[in-house]
Amino acid sequence: MSPLVKVENLSKFFESSGEIFQVFDQVNFTLEAQSSTALIGESGSGKTTLIHVLAGLEPPNSGMVIIDGIKIWNSKESMRAIFRLEKMAIIFQQYNLIPSLNVLSNITLQARLINALDEAFQYELISLLGLEKLLMKYPEEISGGQQQRVAIARAILAKPKILLADEPTGNLDNENTRKVLEAFEILSARYKTTILVATHSKSVAKKLDTKLQIESGKATKTVIR
Ligand SMILES: Nc1ncnc2c1ncn2[C@@H]1O[C@H](COP(=O)(O)OP(=O)(O)OP(=O)(O)O)[C@@H](O)[C@H]1O
Ligand SMILES: [Mg+2]
Repeated sequence: MSPLVKVENLSKFFESSGEIFQVFDQVNFTLEAQSSTALIGESGSGKTTLIHVLAGLEPPNSGMVIIDGIKIWNSKESMRAIFRLEKMAIIFQQYNLIPSLNVLSNITLQARLINALDEAFQYELISLLGLEKLLMKYPEEISGGQQQRVAIARAILAKPKILLADEPTGNLDNENTRKVLEAFEILSARYKTTILVATHSKSVAKKLDTKLQIESGKATKTVIR
């Protein structure tokens, strides 16, 4: 299998009040097409920052991110936005639902924007993730775990080439975590999506093919099973 994602010599630091904080230093790794990877590392190690850099939302200070043959940081922002919409789905740590849209419209948003709404899959996901009774409610009227499942349904329904998921089960109980993992498995098996999941959960990490650990600004990849 060939890699869908190549990261070469990626460095990222933040500067605040005159001090430099290096998040990654010359990081290299690849993600194989159709693989699933657990992104692990302690709180503050840079998982969210890496997801934002891969998503084209936060620029690196140096290095290259190549996804599906596209050097995303050499493209214009407008091209990155189209690439993100058509090829990627992101489950944000803070969910990022649209407050003015109800749950159903949030779930279908990305798929509708790319003209690829699969209604049968929509009902399958709503049922799998237990969202049937929430469809007419607004994000502020539902719990954190419910919002998290809406964000997951929105991302999966878009059938992306790559899914970037930031702590997608951080607010969920064991039963809902199991259902989310089942949804990821459907995405991988049926739609051949490459999946990267930042997680603190050992049980989630165990279900994925490989592990990418960030520690002291470096990334190390290992096969889990
Ligand atoms: N905009 C920013 N400005 C300055 N520093 C930042 C900024 N965003 C993140 N950082 C710093 O970069 C480091 C990595 O943050 P990040 O959010 O990527 O960690 P994380 O691994 O996702 O943590 P968690 O598991 O708690 O979600 C942290 O030390 C954080 O303080
Ligand atoms: Mg984070």
